[in-house]
Amino acid sequence: MAIQWFPGHMTRAKRQIQEKLKLIDLAIELIDARVPISSRNPMVDEILHGKPRLVILNKSDLADPRMNEEWKKYFENEGLTCAIVDANSGHGIKEIPVLAKEILKDKIDKQIAKGMNPRAIRSLIVGIPNVGKSTLINRLAGKNIAITGDRPGVTKGQQWIKTKYDLELLDTPGILWPKFDDELVGYRLATIGSIKEQVLNVDDIGFYAIKSLLPRYWNVMAERYNLKEQPTDLDDPQQVVEVLEGIGRKHGYLQSGGVVDLEKAAIILLRDLRSAKLGRITLEAPFDDMPVREV
Ligand code: G4P
Repeated sequence: MAIQWFPGHMTRAKRQIQEKLKLIDLAIELIDARVPISSRNPMVDEILHGKPRLVILNKSDLADPRMNEEWKKYFENEGLTCAIVDANSGHGIKEIPVLAKEILKDKIDKQIAKGMNPRAIRSLIVGIPNVGKSTLINRLAGKNIAITGDRPGVTKGQQWIKTKYDLELLDTPGILWPKFDDELVGYRLATIGSIKEQVLNVDDIGFYAIKSLLPRYWNVMAERYNLKEQPTDLDDPQQVVEVLEGIGRKHGYLQSGGVVDLEKAAIILLRDLRSAKLGRITLEAPFDDMPVREV
């Protein structure tokens, strides 16, 4: 699951995507709706080189519905078309070919004006590992087809996958990489279970998860874990650790001397978060003052 990316891998992955750009009309950029910043490759604009693009907030079923809308608006303000999708259930999938046609309207209109029959839109799905690229391809294709896994640098013969719509997909998605040089990105991806937690300390993942949760989901956490004192300063590590301690205490994770086992507390928090026991959660907001979700 976790991929070790080295500069050589990145260069190769970038080159592979850029080679495919010649073949396609549209790039479909998948991001995880729970962490739209961290699950996005910061170089994506440069890599896609002005290719018409549809941004998909995938795993929207796990993300805060109001935040999905806020993020959609955010991308639209950036001049990008955006769809809110749950590739697992198929929710929002039908919007993809409709939006693809809207994005390429001018090109399609020109083909029609020349008396041509517009062919199916050719597209490439791109995204970092685990955002749901294979799941989306399978969903769009309407049957289970074998998809090549996430292996940077592996070249395969190109094949077009026909879908139920006027849309064809390259069979191998374009693999992007997250911004590894930002520590927080790694912690957030680990929080949602997108990179293996073994590479990071679980207490630390829990710590950063709480920091990301507190601004909007204190109420939810307070109710679930019986927490009393809302931290007043997120930049004070002690206050954040106290929340983790509260979670551990609620579950009776005490070591000798009454010290809370922070690792166990973090594991339970992450399990609850990933299995949506805390409800639908988005860890990153496009603006600072986002609405707080009530319990
Ligand atoms: P990738 O090709 O981009 O690497 O991602 P992939 O499709 O393999 O999906 C990664 C995991 O995310 C899979 O779960 C998949 O089921 C899940 N997933 C994809 N899209 C969605 C979505 O819209 N909503 C939700 N809730 N999950 C989604 P997994 O745990 O690896 O396997 P599985 O046992 O759940 O299938």
